[in-house]
Amino acid sequence: MTITVPTIPDNATPQEILQLGVEAAQGPVKLACSFSMEDVVIIDMINETGLAVGIFAIDTGRLNEETYEVADAITERYRVGIDWYFPRNEEVECLLQAKGPYSFRESLENRLECCRVRKVEPLSRALAGLSGWVTGMRREQSVTRAELSPIELDPVNNGILKINPLLNWSSEQLQEYASEHNLPVNRLHRQGYPSIGCAPCTRAVKPGEDARAGRWWWEDPNNKECGLHKR
Ligand code: ADX
Ligand code: SF4
Repeated sequence: MTITVPTIPDNATPQEILQLGVEAAQGPVKLACSFSMEDVVIIDMINETGLAVGIFAIDTGRLNEETYEVADAITERYRVGIDWYFPRNEEVECLLQAKGPYSFRESLENRLECCRVRKVEPLSRALAGLSGWVTGMRREQSVTRAELSPIELDPVNNGILKINPLLNWSSEQLQEYASEHNLPVNRLHRQGYPSIGCAPCTRAVKPGEDARAGRWWWEDPNNKECGLHKR
């Protein structure tokens, strides 16, 4: 089956982007959920529109406690199932035995290795059999996301559709939606964490800093992708 990327009007709302994406995918679509404010907003929109979009989450084994609290609140509020994916035991065991629990601080190569084991490999299993996946990425988040499109083919993951409904939203629009709809948001957002990943690789940002400045803060901003969003 050939998937064609639909044309997205410049003024399309996130809900319209979601709908166009789901229609174009012509098969199962799921949201990749890290329980960020973006992902929670998208879950609310999926719920409101009634679109057939499932939810999966990758538990890297290094997530913050606050992230599980949001997962719990989401399950409670929307009565939805979450498909959890974990890294392969043997791979994590090998990594820790060979390099210890903080190898990712030592070099970019080691960091990418940890992200590959804990995020990218589980992602490939989560995406197997899907025709499309939805992400909460926004253009404003970083230089690495400036060139994305609201709907694109994902050549790294079998050419399925990648749908980024909030791509053009600002953080103000996001926060306004979350507070208007009284959404459960990660407590860390209020403590200066605009972007939340694994606990040891995320810290709060200072006022005026880039939204992803607290992610892998010891690295060059141009490298700040973990492999989930390779292009
Ligand atoms: S990351 O690649 O640097 O970790 P980021 O935290 O900005 O990504 O999140 C961007 C989008 O990637 C999220 O909105 C979500 O769609 C997806 N994502 C990130 N982490 C996970 C995760 N652990 N499980 C599922 N999806 C995730
Ligand atoms: Fe490992 Fe850090 Fe990547 Fe999480 S973000 S998978 S702990 S390197």
